[in-house]
Amino acid sequence: MKNIDNIKISKAIPDDAEGIQILTAESSKGMYALCGWSPEEISNHFPIEKIKEGAERLRKLIPTFTEDDIMFVAKDEENKIIGCCLAEKQKNINKIEAVYISPEFQGFGLGKKLYDTAYGLLNHNNHTFLDVFSLNSKAINFYKKLGFLETGKKTFDKRFKDSKGNILEISEMMLVGQK
Ligand SMILES: CC(C)(COP(=O)(O)OP(=O)(O)OC[C@H]1O[C@@H](n2cnc3c(N)ncnc32)[C@H](O)[C@@H]1OP(=O)(O)O)[C@@H](O)C(=O)NCCC(=O)NCCS
Repeated sequence: MKNIDNIKISKAIPDDAEGIQILTAESSKGMYALCGWSPEEISNHFPIEKIKEGAERLRKLIPTFTEDDIMFVAKDEENKIIGCCLAEKQKNINKIEAVYISPEFQGFGLGKKLYDTAYGLLNHNNHTFLDVFSLNSKAINFYKKLGFLETGKKTFDKRFKDSKGNILEISEMMLVGQK
């Protein structure tokens, strides 16, 4: 049982970019395993060059965030990034873009803590939407615990395929707004 009381949660800054990319690569391995990828396919998908390129893009993106782009990171005692949550306040809806927790910190309440911090800055009168791979049962159960329901809307994005080349189905989930 890990104690997450000393984990610091803060708004993402440009210097966090590389740590966020490393975290998302590590954290999404379990997600791709649920989607049928083999360990080899998973490690080929995250070469270090790709992580570095992603980090450079993110480093430039973070300073362009407005108050409607909400990105929080969680850091351990050595300042290593072990969680992140990205959300967006749009005109009539909120969007949760992603919640990623480092594998060794999953299941201790950190995902909920980060989500609650981001959700606190969203417009609670509006509905909140997110997209998740239909095969990612772990995340679907997590979001259900937070009050989200599956809307039944399914989409496909040809960038995301399973190990056999089939395009992965994406499920939309929604948290009802207070108004
Ligand atoms: C999904 C994820 C973000 C959840 O974060 P986490 O820190 O492990 O979840 P928490 O410990 O905060 O759990 C919060 C609540 O959800 C519940 N929950 C979490 N995972 C669950 C699961 N697999 N099944 C059922 N309930 C679950 C917990 O029991 C807890 O409920 P409680 O408050 O009543 O105790 C994390 O597992 C992760 O990073 N997964 C890989 C990346 C990913 O798939 N992200 C989502 C795609 S955008």
